[in-house]
Amino acid sequence: MDKNRVLVFDTTLRDGEQSPGASLGVPDKVAIAHQLARLNVDIIEAGFPVSSAAQFEATQLIASEVKGPVIAALARCVDLDIDKAGEAIKKAEKPRIHTFVATSKIHLEKKFRKTEDEVLAMAVAGVKRAKKYCHDIEFSPEDSARTGKEFLFRIVEAAIRAGATTINIPDTVGYSNPEEFGGLINEILNTVPNVDQAILSIHCHNDLGLAVANTLAGIRNGAQQIEVTINGIGERAGNASLEEVVMSLKTRQNFYNKYTNINTKEIINTSRMVSNLMGIPVQPNKAIVGSNAFAHESGIHQDAMIKHASTYEIMTPTEIGLDSSKIVLGRHSGRHGLKQRLVELGYNLSTVELNHVYERFLQIADKKKEVFDEDLIALVGDESQDFEDAYQLEYFHVLSGNKAIPTATIVLEHKGELIQEASVGDGPVDAAYKAIDKIVNMPLKLAEYSLRGVTGGKEAMGEVVVRITQNGQKILGRGASTDVIEASIRAYLNAINKSLHLQTGKDQKDDVKATL
Ligand code: KIV
Ligand code: ZN
Repeated sequence: MDKNRVLVFDTTLRDGEQSPGASLGVPDKVAIAHQLARLNVDIIEAGFPVSSAAQFEATQLIASEVKGPVIAALARCVDLDIDKAGEAIKKAEKPRIHTFVATSKIHLEKKFRKTEDEVLAMAVAGVKRAKKYCHDIEFSPEDSARTGKEFLFRIVEAAIRAGATTINIPDTVGYSNPEEFGGLINEILNTVPNVDQAILSIHCHNDLGLAVANTLAGIRNGAQQIEVTINGIGERAGNASLEEVVMSLKTRQNFYNKYTNINTKEIINTSRMVSNLMGIPVQPNKAIVGSNAFAHESGIHQDAMIKHASTYEIMTPTEIGLDSSKIVLGRHSGRHGLKQRLVELGYNLSTVELNHVYERFLQIADKKKEVFDEDLIALVGDESQDFEDAYQLEYFHVLSGNKAIPTATIVLEHKGELIQEASVGDGPVDAAYKAIDKIVNMPLKLAEYSLRGVTGGKEAMGEVVVRITQNGQKILGRGASTDVIEASIRAYLNAINKSLHLQTGKDQKDDVKATL
């Protein structure tokens, strides 16, 4: 490999999916994996197959469908994990098993009650077992940044001798800092005798807000692979953000003298898809992909920008795929135009899904005149799914005011019948949800509700994301409309329909969250 090239290992679908509140259905994961392939990442970590039936299914589907990147599956250094991972990635064009075991003193003593020698034996046995399934094996000593160096070097050397082709050094709890982490990478490269027989990778968490800085320091010190996630999502405070590291390397090529093969023009599409499907909004001031990242507020800045954009812009919005002409479609756009634009945005919908989205698109286009990419993405989140809704909104009416008791009437279509209920509530949304509860009669709890404007302006669509809990399981629902009450009702119904679908067993969700 060219010594200036940095491989991008995307773990959005594995570590990213361990974000609090995040959980994706199998079709959503496959859609994201296809988009990651368009982004041209080198490796996609598709899941942790042993952790649930859904993780296994998603990894298997991604392995058989997604071409281009290496498809990796995570496994502890445990036989069952490795066998499941091996089975799940069997059909991949380029399969990889990523196996790991914790190595820090604190994990050995408190988590495992094992000696260093016992853990080293687990690592060697794990790598050797994985090797039966594929040649490409990654090994991670978990909590490397807090592991004693002597043992870390020893286990890295042993894993390479056992057949690991990539060694990944994780700062699992985001404890390190750039000087220290860069120094560790430098020391590994200069101390472990057989290190040149493997690719050295890094994996940084963001607990102290240093994940990107630590990753860049690792690259400066010779790491050849980075493990990152879209929008920096991940366990606790997240992982190093793919877009931030990649754009740092690109924008400051003169300093780092390194490059990735990422197609940066797909960054914004990927960021929006992940945010939308996971129901995790991107903060406005987030570097690279936040809505303010290329906005200039102060008069002095605006004036200088008109004179020359480079005065206040170190990279251009087009580099990450943001077009200045963002209006895409209007009410005269046909189904074909809509389909085409959705494909460009990374969404390959079935005919049934496209029909649903088109119907809603026409309603929105009538109200809004101009439909933006963000509007389309919100509509897809609301409408696209591979099953028919058990309950559909037919009609709603709400009464609200500062001196009125909020009241809602809802009519839903269910199995060909129209069912009507009314309720009062603390507000119009609460009243509507209570009326729906009376109709569906399920033991639901609304755990989260959030509303955001999809684009700016008076005609902006509102997007509502809810999470309901049923039997201890959290289910995400999304709804979008120019009317925020309608968006709220659609989001609630979306979650209810998904929950009913899950109960029928046609779709499987994670029954066990990966416990690493
Ligand atoms: O943070 C971590 O240590 C991990 C490992 C599984 C690589 O995610
Ligand atoms: Zn991690």
